[in-house]
Amino acid sequence: MNYAKKVREITKEKMLKVKGTSHAFDHIERVCKIATYLAKREGADVEIVQIAALLHDLGRSIKEPHQKTGAKVAVKILKRIGYPEHKTKIVYKAILYHSLGERKKVKTLEEKIIWDADKIDLIGILGILRIFHFRGNLFSSFDYGIKKWFRLWINVYKMLFTKTAKKITKERYKKTLRFSSDLKKEISLKDLRLK
Ligand SMILES: [Fe+2]
Ligand SMILES: [Fe+2]
Repeated sequence: MNYAKKVREITKEKMLKVKGTSHAFDHIERVCKIATYLAKREGADVEIVQIAALLHDLGRSIKEPHQKTGAKVAVKILKRIGYPEHKTKIVYKAILYHSLGERKKVKTLEEKIIWDADKIDLIGILGILRIFHFRGNLFSSFDYGIKKWFRLWINVYKMLFTKTAKKITKERYKKTLRFSSDLKKEISLKDLRLK
């Protein structure tokens, strides 16, 4: 059986419950593609990484904390489709530790790749848009949001584990800094030179 293909079908359907653009299925697909690339370059098990990537945010369609609920349901799904138990254990941990706050618990190469692939989707301009969509209603203003983004999420670039992830995001990181600097000018109206 093509396990990754089967898991993709299951995840695509379940992720329809997740509202909004920040964690829609296109996020899952990007994370899966990035993780596949990282796995090939870093010498990890490609199938395990693809399955973990496809299932990593499944918990968002269930209940928070999504890394825990998602990891549990992932085990059930994988058992149902007959995925080998020893591989399921690796998938389980990669899902369980993929969140920003779990970084210290990340140990295996597969866990590092899922963590990196998920965070790469936070680094770019896309990352800023995703954060504003995801957390925007909690920000008191655009100015506050961009300052908070700068304080918390820009550091993600420096927290990546794998050499490949650091290498492929270099340009994206620089571009994001330029974008956020332009955005700040627009928020403060400095770009319009109103004086
Ligand atoms: Fe997540
Ligand atoms: Fe994610």
